[in-house]
Amino acid sequence: MPTNKEYIQMIEQALRSYLPSQKGLEADVCKAMEYSLMGGGKRIRPILTLEFCRLCGGNLLAALPFACAVEMVHTYSLIHDDLPCMDNDDMRRGRPSNHKVYGEDIALLAGDALLSLAFETMLSPRNAGLAGEDRAARAAGLLAKASGATGMVGGQVIDLQQEGKPTTIEVLQQMDEKKTGALIIAAAEMGCVIAGAEENKLAAARTYTRAIGLAFQIVDDILDVTADSKQLGKPVGSDETNQKNTYVSLLGLERSRGLVKELTEQAIKVLEQFPEDTSFLSDLARSLATRQY
Ligand code: IPE
Ligand code: IPE
Ligand code: MG
Ligand code: MG
Ligand code: MG
Repeated sequence: MPTNKEYIQMIEQALRSYLPSQKGLEADVCKAMEYSLMGGGKRIRPILTLEFCRLCGGNLLAALPFACAVEMVHTYSLIHDDLPCMDNDDMRRGRPSNHKVYGEDIALLAGDALLSLAFETMLSPRNAGLAGEDRAARAAGLLAKASGATGMVGGQVIDLQQEGKPTTIEVLQQMDEKKTGALIIAAAEMGCVIAGAEENKLAAARTYTRAIGLAFQIVDDILDVTADSKQLGKPVGSDETNQKNTYVSLLGLERSRGLVKELTEQAIKVLEQFPEDTSFLSDLARSLATRQY
């Protein structure tokens, strides 16, 4: 079983290989894409794709383009999330946000181009052939749905619409399941699909990632209040400045921490459905619950 570090090395090498060359009159947008895509990050989503593929007996090299694709979509979502018209944050992954370096126009386009690059990467004849065309099409369809108006984009819309308004826990849960959960769930589903896993394994992967995905956003909201911005690599206090509704603003820190613990235990319990060694995924769930960045 690869270590977290080995997975990250595989992912970063592959991500670099898929980036367009920085030549021609459009070089600026290619530089902006590289700046955010290769600028660190925990790589949680692509790691989930690879580990679920491994767990379901699949070929890691066939899953790698799909792992990279979800990281490209995630990176695009972060570039747009930081724009002045959204969260207006000046720091990301320990460096100035994309628009602070390249300007809002190029940052917007770099995000758009990363979204396209994700689909180009999954559906190139070589990569789709390696995965098997039917599996590649199914996986790409899952990522498309998770990224769009009823997935990540939809969650971001709810997030913006709820700013400064009283809200309910039900709305928050829906918002977080979409803006953050959808891509985390799709990452795991794609790993299973590329491996040709049975439906019961796909269902277990979904239940596990639904729980860790929600916990992940609650921890993100907690860290926005409690973390050190240097260690976090992005501003703290951004949610309060933007009058965001979060689990922390609604329930307070203690109840939010309790929920993270509960969701993490739920996720680990679901792993019992796999007869294989799931220690990587149980450790991952625990480490995400206690992370400091
Ligand atoms: C941040 O995601 C945005 C959320 C969806 C909470 P990550 O915490 O995974 O960010 P990186 O990729 O490690 O920078
Ligand atoms: C971001 O949520 C979710 C997406 C980018 C889809 P946040 O706005 O809380 O993420 P951070 O804290 O800026 O990373
Ligand atoms: Mg946001
Ligand atoms: Mg933000
Ligand atoms: Mg946040």
